[in-house]
Amino acid sequence: MQNQQAQPERKKKVLSLIQPTAVPTVGNYLGALKNWKQMSEDYDCVYGVADLHALTVRPDPALLRRQSLETFALLLAIGLDPDQSVICVQSRIHTHAEMAWVLNCYAQFGEAARMTQFKDKSKTNADNINVGLFTYPVLMAADILLYQADYVPIGDDQKQHLELCRDIAERFNSLYGKTFTLPEAFIGKVGARVMSLQDPTKKMSKSDPNPRASVSILDEPDAIVRKFKSAVTDSEARVKFAPGKDGINNLMSIYAGCTGLSYEAIEAEFEGKGYGDFKAAVAEAVVEELRPVREKFNELLEDKAYLADCIDKGTETALRISKRTMDKVKRKIGLIRL
Ligand code: TYM
Repeated sequence: MQNQQAQPERKKKVLSLIQPTAVPTVGNYLGALKNWKQMSEDYDCVYGVADLHALTVRPDPALLRRQSLETFALLLAIGLDPDQSVICVQSRIHTHAEMAWVLNCYAQFGEAARMTQFKDKSKTNADNINVGLFTYPVLMAADILLYQADYVPIGDDQKQHLELCRDIAERFNSLYGKTFTLPEAFIGKVGARVMSLQDPTKKMSKSDPNPRASVSILDEPDAIVRKFKSAVTDSEARVKFAPGKDGINNLMSIYAGCTGLSYEAIEAEFEGKGYGDFKAAVAEAVVEELRPVREKFNELLEDKAYLADCIDKGTETALRISKRTMDKVKRKIGLIRL
């Protein structure tokens, strides 16, 4: 009789990065980071700080260095475990820039020109529309394809970039045979697009000049309470998820993201109550969700040697994994390998 032991199923692979351009917001947290943590329990994950992407807005060098380290610390503070997941800093892994160049030659000008984020950023950075801004999604494709990621946990705003990544991968695979795994976006049901507290038709962004428009992961509780108190709502004074009620819909999605409650349950909880009560409850839920993250973050920043060790460890593993794909690509396209 043959020993027909079932092969253990390959664990799915996950990759996602975050830019270190400012302290991440509750939007980054609910749209992406919270899912990163959850997925790290079940999958082989690579997470990291996209410092090369941040160069597209020409940040102050000292600030970039500090924010990259702080963003790395924040990834540990949300509960990611460097013994379980690969946690890395993009610029330390030379294969990312190398793969990005190769993929630039397999992405079409027209495709990159259609990216809405490029069009938006060209407007906000009118004095510095550099080529990096244009090829930014190709570097993102390199990040993802190097690790053969099956899933990419992101907020709604990165969906178009992921579609471009898939198109590049499919094009390459059809020219040279299966080389890259086709990645799928993982976008959560709530929190995928957290909106500005001051203009709920606009995405909450780390770089919003109005400090009341966004809540940072590291904001102190009283600042969080103040910001939610001044959040724009409507004159109806009824906690109900409905078209056109952008401000309330946004607060409900934040509350749902923190508490795990459905919209129906939230409506029932606040039946007959006003927006004041609701805003206070949302603020409280956010404060409690972020409290352990802030406390762990402050603790980690005290131990720079530990952070440096974790970065080295992530670099080593990420290099080992990504070089396998890089070598395969070089062989397929005809680059000499020694
Ligand atoms: P970044 O740094 O702008 O944002 C990090 C993650 O947060 C999500 N996000 C949001 N989610 C919900 N509501 C919001 N208001 C909100 N704002 C941001 C983003 O969708 C993202 O998932 N290009 C990427 C970084 C990157 C990357 C990658 C991502 C570089 N390489 C490879 C995935 C895979 C970016 O700028 O994200």
